[in-house]
Amino acid sequence: MNFSLPFSPEQASAIAPHIDLLYLYLVAVSLFFTVLIFILVLVFAIKYRRKYDTEEPRPVKANYALEIAWSVIPLLIAMTMFVWGSVLFFKLYRPPQDADEIFVVGKQWMWKIQHPEGRREINELHVPVGRSIKLKMTSEDVIHSFYIPAFRTKMDVVPGRYTHLWFKATKPGRYHLFCAEYCGTDHSGMIGTVVAMEPKDYERWLESGAASELSAALTGAQLFEKHRCITCHNPASASMGPEIPFGAPVKLADGSTVIADEEYIRESILRPNAKVVAGYTSIMPTYQGQITEEEIIQIIEYIKSMNQSPAVESAGVPVPAERVIDTQENGTPIRQLETGSVPENA
Ligand code: CUA
Repeated sequence: MNFSLPFSPEQASAIAPHIDLLYLYLVAVSLFFTVLIFILVLVFAIKYRRKYDTEEPRPVKANYALEIAWSVIPLLIAMTMFVWGSVLFFKLYRPPQDADEIFVVGKQWMWKIQHPEGRREINELHVPVGRSIKLKMTSEDVIHSFYIPAFRTKMDVVPGRYTHLWFKATKPGRYHLFCAEYCGTDHSGMIGTVVAMEPKDYERWLESGAASELSAALTGAQLFEKHRCITCHNPASASMGPEIPFGAPVKLADGSTVIADEEYIRESILRPNAKVVAGYTSIMPTYQGQITEEEIIQIIEYIKSMNQSPAVESAGVPVPAERVIDTQENGTPIRQLETGSVPENA
């Protein structure tokens, strides 16, 4: 399927040709019926015109076969659009399990991006080609919309929740990134560039910034101490707060059960009283206004990494998984967990 519609942007993601094909089909069907209707209007206007002043039309008799045909045929055509569109929609909005995650925070008027490995960027998003990338997105203020025309994908970025968007870039290059939701004075300036790179170049790019930038999970570990989360949520000591088992079901004080996913952890940081874990009293203060969306994402990454790693230091501070992996691969840890200083947020 290597066709391209005139006036349409480059096809640079795996799904782009499929979207274009459906679009082409919609345009073709519309064109066909537009032309057909215009021709019939013309032909009938000439053929059935009044030929002399006293001519009277013959009475119209119902033709059921004809009426059923012109109802059923358009229905069938519309259903092909519905089924085809639905299949593509599910493909577009269901990220594959093995997709690599990158975090996006929208803010009037910029895109802040963090790679789990640590690199941060503003209004630029570097991605490798040939790999599924899932963006986890939220907003600091109003609704924005993350739109990459060359990838044929777009998703709202909404304050108060995480939305996801995924793609697999197929062609190295630089592509436009737009905000596609009117979000205030400088909405039109909320633009950027997606840089699709060969995986090797991407790895090099990731590493080129890693020396000064801690991974999201390690930054999260520092925040966990800085905000004193560790005082109460300490799995090694009998503490006041519950452990946070990422992805596991949690029994709540009101008898219901929730999955400790990203939304739940985010809500518990900002509104600790909303869903209190069974057996605990609601004594945790809210962090609303004291913590940015980026920091929440980093803390969640840290909590995730704790649950992936069986290693727990004797001091009781769980070791983020990444540090362990780095040590195993190279013999020496590449990045030390430094406490005390937290890198400035962009
Ligand atoms: Cu952000 Cu428009």
